[in-house]
Amino acid sequence: MKLLITGGAGFIGSHVVRLFVTKYPEYQIYNLDALTYAGNLANLTDIEKAPNYTFIKGDITDAKFLEDIFAELSFDGVIHLAAESHVDRSITDPMSFVMTNVVGTVNLLNAAKNSWAGNTEGKRFYHVSTDEVFGSLHNPEDFFTEETSYDPQSPYSASKAASDHFVRAYGNTYKLPVVLSNCSNNYGPNHFPEKLIPLMILNIQTNKPLPVYGKGENVRDWLFVVDHARAIDAVFHTGKVGETYNIGGFNEWKNIDIVNLLCQIMDRKLERPEGTSAKLITYVTDRAGHDLRYAIDANKIMKELGWEPSLQFEEGLEKTVDWFLANQEWLDNVTSGTYQSYYQGMYANR
Ligand code: NAD
Ligand code: TYD
Repeated sequence: MKLLITGGAGFIGSHVVRLFVTKYPEYQIYNLDALTYAGNLANLTDIEKAPNYTFIKGDITDAKFLEDIFAELSFDGVIHLAAESHVDRSITDPMSFVMTNVVGTVNLLNAAKNSWAGNTEGKRFYHVSTDEVFGSLHNPEDFFTEETSYDPQSPYSASKAASDHFVRAYGNTYKLPVVLSNCSNNYGPNHFPEKLIPLMILNIQTNKPLPVYGKGENVRDWLFVVDHARAIDAVFHTGKVGETYNIGGFNEWKNIDIVNLLCQIMDRKLERPEGTSAKLITYVTDRAGHDLRYAIDANKIMKELGWEPSLQFEEGLEKTVDWFLANQEWLDNVTSGTYQSYYQGMYANR
């Protein structure tokens, strides 16, 4: 099995690459990543010398480059994670989301289709997507199922929805053996500190304001990243061609409750008097078009593929905080340079 994983230097991708490189020594794993601000080879130093691992620097918006590497390496499978992934960035710069998430995905579909023309036996194209394509839930009893209609509300989720549609269309039209999953919010080690949980950990540590959008009442379902990687393993190997699997932790939290919990954990870990970090909480202007609630019904993958989350949220959050506190160099690295200037620019007016 020659397996191409795209976006393997990013947050979730690096956990997927690690799992596959270590669990399947008989596979050749190729990690294709453009190393944008979100891609970091320091996420993979522990496996970078493994004999079954190869890193390829490349951009999925470059169709010719993709055709060439498929022709040269004849991949048997693709797990596609490369994407622009941050909603706030999609509001500032939607076109980069169209380019990577839509055009890049179609380029990859074309490269696989051409490479596998006429012989898709044993081949698989797995597209990793998000629950955000379903839009925002307003009735507290509702959950996203695999049958829920798409209703994306942000440029990010619209670009992911478009990519999902193209993947299904290639499955239907060209009989490409596709499989998809839509997962809820991930958290854990290597999470880039522009997203809620790692940003709060970083700002608590450095005594900076904790920017809570709006009233902090938006709800997300959170899953430990290693559990998402385990689910991706299950879907890739045992999911049915043409099917979609929703992945989530049945673990809904209001943003403000997570921020308060993180403040408590950090006060304890940093040996600060109780209540110190919570004083940093600052309510800021809400995100434009902010989705109120996401909640995943993960029964299908649990029943059909036997997957279930391995960690409770509080335990996962402790592990995450411990990882960030023990990996200061990683944090310093990703909060310097280009990222730092973006970060300062973005929050300057809040
Ligand atoms: P990330 O932003 O941390 O990583 C994305 C990776 O893709 C980076 O390594 C980046 O360098 C690479 N990349 C970006 N543009 C590229 C291009 N044009 N060509 C090649 N590589 C490129 O993202 P993540 O949080 O790890 O998310 C991975 C995937 O999972 C995405 O498709 C995302 O939509 C999906 N997802 C994420 C979450 C979440 O909570 N983070 C939840 C569900 C689904
Ligand atoms: P985020 O981690 O960006 O993920 P997503 O928007 O894809 O769900 O944000 C999670 C939630 O936290 C979302 O409701 C927006 C909110 N949020 C804040 O309140 N403050 C912040 O600084 C960030 C980054 C997010």
